[in-house]
Amino acid sequence: MAVERRRAARPDLRPRPARESLTKVADLMFPPDANMHGTVFGGKVLQMVDKAAAVCAMRHSGRICVTVAMERVEFLFPIRVGTFLIVEAQVNHTGRSSLEIGVEVYAEDLLQGTRAHTNSCLVTMVCVDEKNRPAPVPPLLLETPEEKARWAAAEERRLARQKARRG
Ligand SMILES: CC(C)(COP(=O)(O)OP(=O)(O)OC[C@H]1O[C@@H](n2cnc3c(N)ncnc32)[C@H](O)[C@@H]1OP(=O)(O)O)[C@@H](O)C(=O)NCCC(=O)NCCS
Repeated sequence: MAVERRRAARPDLRPRPARESLTKVADLMFPPDANMHGTVFGGKVLQMVDKAAAVCAMRHSGRICVTVAMERVEFLFPIRVGTFLIVEAQVNHTGRSSLEIGVEVYAEDLLQGTRAHTNSCLVTMVCVDEKNRPAPVPPLLLETPEEKARWAAAEERRLARQKARRG
């Protein structure tokens, strides 16, 4: 009901600020999340990254969004079992149907009370209609100098990707 009310109050393609779709996904790492070395499996982290990006894109657009690309995934150090993993996602850029989502991953040591940045990733999501065809995404309303800088950097990456895909 609450979601329906929110959608009704927001016309489909109204520009929306990034703060409205900021997303956090968090999970405590258990032994089933580990690889054979006893640290957290990279695929587990990527699953959380993908989920956070999908929620962020769908919050922004109010549509089904699918992952079309993940890039610049960096694992900066191993994550121990017992770590509380926090994944934060923010819309960097919107195109016609695509969104670039910037995702940051933090490892919180609950016993030490410390938090470290462990991964960065860029995820491109595409809004789709009921026939799974690309559908328009609401523009991003840029509110801060940081958001404007993120947009400009993402626009350069988008042009580079388009050029690379054209070959
Ligand atoms: C997403 C999908 C519907 C796009 O269809 P498409 O025919 O490539 O559509 P288009 O070429 O019109 O591209 C749509 C948008 O995606 C962007 N895009 C397409 N391929 C991309 C790529 N490899 N990297 C970044 N962006 C990409 C385009 O630039 C375009 O952006 P814009 O509308 O903002 O200008 C289609 O590729 C698809 O269904 N992919 C599978 C998605 C999926 O199943 N994901 C789950 C992970 S397994």
